[in-house]
Amino acid sequence: MDDTGPSEPGRLSRRQFAKAAVAIGGASALSACLGRNGEPDVSAGPDDLSTLPARQHAWNEFLATDDHGNDVAPRHRVLLLLNYATDGTPSDDDRKTVETAFRSLERAYARGNDGLLFTVGYSPSYFERFDADLPESVDLQQPRALASFEDPELDQQDAVVHLASDHASVVLAAEEALLGEKSELNGVEMEADLSGVFERADRRTGFVGEGLPADNQDAEGIPDSDPVSEDAPLFMGFKSGFQKNQATEDRVTIRDGPFAGGTTHQLSKIRLNLQQWYEQDSRSQRVGKMFCPVHAEEDLVEGAGDNLGDSAQMEERGCPAHTEDHARTKGVVGHSQKSARARDDDGSPLMIRRDFNSTDGGRAGLHFVSLQRTVSDFVDTREAMNGEDVAERSAVGQKNNNGILQYMEVLRRGNFLLPPREKRSLPTPN
Ligand code: HEM
Repeated sequence: MDDTGPSEPGRLSRRQFAKAAVAIGGASALSACLGRNGEPDVSAGPDDLSTLPARQHAWNEFLATDDHGNDVAPRHRVLLLLNYATDGTPSDDDRKTVETAFRSLERAYARGNDGLLFTVGYSPSYFERFDADLPESVDLQQPRALASFEDPELDQQDAVVHLASDHASVVLAAEEALLGEKSELNGVEMEADLSGVFERADRRTGFVGEGLPADNQDAEGIPDSDPVSEDAPLFMGFKSGFQKNQATEDRVTIRDGPFAGGTTHQLSKIRLNLQQWYEQDSRSQRVGKMFCPVHAEEDLVEGAGDNLGDSAQMEERGCPAHTEDHARTKGVVGHSQKSARARDDDGSPLMIRRDFNSTDGGRAGLHFVSLQRTVSDFVDTREAMNGEDVAERSAVGQKNNNGILQYMEVLRRGNFLLPPREKRSLPTPN
């Protein structure tokens, strides 16, 4: 579905419609989507699948880039949380079925914003069904609470499939086909599907990119005044995912052992409450809390922040190093400022963020998807973001004026291993 078209008076805009269809899901949402806009003209994938990268998470080379060279996130998403339907260790037959299903998806749609991108990951609970342990080269841990002020439910489903495309109908059709409810995708036959091997345990959906948050702000957690601007790619009003504030795909890739070429995938379900954000905080306070007080004082951010180019201007303005000092002297620290303290010695960020907003259950939220070589890299980054150290030594509260902590609540956490592509189907630990 082309979701960038004009809205039709008195009806849902095409963007609202696309998002609503993804959130509802199922065959009727898909046919409504296609009935309204027709099948999008999407190229099929390669005949020779060996031309695809070995890394499942190699998305960037297939993504569009904006004027500053930042990768542009695919606009529509579905996360499928799956349980292996059988007790015990997976059979070779099931493994073959799963791989055949994923290969059919790859043949059906070219990899990219205009086609389909997807990954499949496995949880620590999945690996517990084997006698052997995961090798030391893989740091995958059971999820747990990562701050004194959170109490998340833990995602222990066996697997997660992340589907992404600029076309709502493509993510919907891919989901239907994987679940065995559609035998042909973009003119390509599905030679197998996941039904019978996996059971769907949960379904989470969302969107990211200019216009979509504005069109879908009629959700609990966002004031009725429709405060989200048209140029905002996310509900909080600012652009994220600047090139220089993301790790490279190399940085997040596991280097050794049987899962070399893979990565880890952390998933949080976050509820947003933007009442105060939009009704009491000024624009300048929002800039200070999201980026850094320097950005607010010097008025560095225009609109959603496209003017910042390919960097959130953290190191460039000395923000991370001044976190404590700003907490004491200004009484506020920025989310990005604190989080950017978790970097490699050479200054490179530790993770790639592939998150998106959601209105699942009628509530504004964010499905935070991040990739990092080890789950510990995520834990370290989250610790930096918690800023408990600055709260102890200044008037900054545990949550108040402490970045954006006050506006978000982590409801669920899960950790998954994304194996390299050749081991993505019901892998064994070694
Ligand atoms: C409520 C949802 C969130 C929103 C709207 C949000 C938004 C942003 C924005 C706008 C930036 C600055 C731009 C950029 O660097 O790309 C940023 C930076 C960052 N955020 Fe978030 N964020 C959210 C949650 C999280 C969470 C849960 C984490 C997990 C630890 C996180 C980690 C980071 C990191 C690591 C950076 C970059 C720091 C660096 O430059 O090294 N964010 N975020």
